[in-house]
Amino acid sequence: MFSGWRPHAGQLAFLSADAPVRVLACGRRWGKTEVIAAEIARTLLSVAPRSVLLVAPSQEQALLGFERAIEFLHRAGVRPTVRRSPAPTLRLGDSRLWARSAARGGTLLRGRKAHLILVDEAAYVPEPVVTEVLMPMLADTGGKLALVSTPRGKNYFYRLYQQGQEDGVRVWSLRSPSWHNPLLSPTVLQMQASMMSARQFQVEYGAMFLDDAGQVFRTEWVDCALQLNLPDEGLTVAGLDWARRQDYTALAILRGSRQGAKLLLIRRWQGLSWREHIEVVAELLHLYQPVRVLCDRTGVGDPLLEALHEAGILQAEGVVFTQTLKRNLIDHLALMLEQGKLQLLPDPALLNELYHFEATPTERGTRLQGSGGTHDDLVIALALATWGLPQAPAGIIQTSGQTRVERG
Ligand SMILES: Nc1ncnc2c1ncn2[C@@H]1O[C@H](COP(=O)(O)OP(=O)(O)OP(=O)(O)O)[C@@H](O)[C@H]1O
Ligand SMILES: [Mg+2]
Repeated sequence: MFSGWRPHAGQLAFLSADAPVRVLACGRRWGKTEVIAAEIARTLLSVAPRSVLLVAPSQEQALLGFERAIEFLHRAGVRPTVRRSPAPTLRLGDSRLWARSAARGGTLLRGRKAHLILVDEAAYVPEPVVTEVLMPMLADTGGKLALVSTPRGKNYFYRLYQQGQEDGVRVWSLRSPSWHNPLLSPTVLQMQASMMSARQFQVEYGAMFLDDAGQVFRTEWVDCALQLNLPDEGLTVAGLDWARRQDYTALAILRGSRQGAKLLLIRRWQGLSWREHIEVVAELLHLYQPVRVLCDRTGVGDPLLEALHEAGILQAEGVVFTQTLKRNLIDHLALMLEQGKLQLLPDPALLNELYHFEATPTERGTRLQGSGGTHDDLVIALALATWGLPQAPAGIIQTSGQTRVERG
């Protein structure tokens, strides 16, 4: 197809299927982005002018497929006109490719028409973006949609996959674990398996649609939380989880009350010095001006809290995690999600952490954490921020000064 490149059997099946909707559920490192890029290049090279749209949960992810598609075109001996900013766009004769993030509800995409839309990591893109924004873009052209992803529970991506298994004509679907990629080394797979819980490995590499079984935040609550449209009012609060060992420092900023709040910002950083951590965090906190900032000080002690105070974040409060406090925080976050009182942002890292956050029974009670090798920094920051919300929308802060510190 492209000189020097051969699709593996699963990729070939995807490229050969000609249903209007294709759903490809595969494990990590299967070659998902690669096959998307090959499909894009093939379409752009067809004789008729084609408008192709590549969508991913984040701009970085969309850019990966975009760059890979350019490599395929180069391999085919053509030189497209490429623009990377303000947003990645490519022209080849009368054909076009746009690469866009699904963030902000896909508002930037509305109104366009396309012959082919490909969504990378589709299970992490909110359902309304696919059904209300992308699908209508294909109506005029009779265009095709391809959704490619690792599974994330039994959400809309799963339902479409199921439809493909039953139908096969209008919707084609295939599920294929990472080890179907013959190029993936068994040693790498073994190493990954040893770093994760069995359940997480089954999902991320086995491409299985699993829900429940120890999952704390149900996929349907999380998906509903992405579709809420709560008013932007009330007090702003923040939760901060400091990096320990190889973890991330994570910051969550919310506005509202325990009766209804929306996530304004969720971010994490890795590999910075402590001074840099303080700087980036303080800058964002100065920007958002939260009335409370709850910081996990377990294991990191007072110096970081003092440094935040010195950086002008006087409202920062330290919280020491005990088993009980952690359980209360997580229960409270789960309850707000279940009751539809917390509006989330479709941040792929947050969605992945929420999906893999597990409650595991142990001899000493229940262990709550990201399963196996997953991080849970964003979940903890979010839970801290949620905990810091005032009870009622009136916005009277009921605790002042230090949060009660529990010691276990
Ligand atoms: N048919 C192929 N021929 C040669 N190399 C391939 C092929 N398919 C995939 N690869 C290579 O395998 C690696 C993984 O591919 P890719 O990044 O597309 O996988 P992915 O499923 O998108 O992974 P991730 O889960 O990390 O997003 C890349 O280095 C890619 O170039
Ligand atoms: Mg990929």
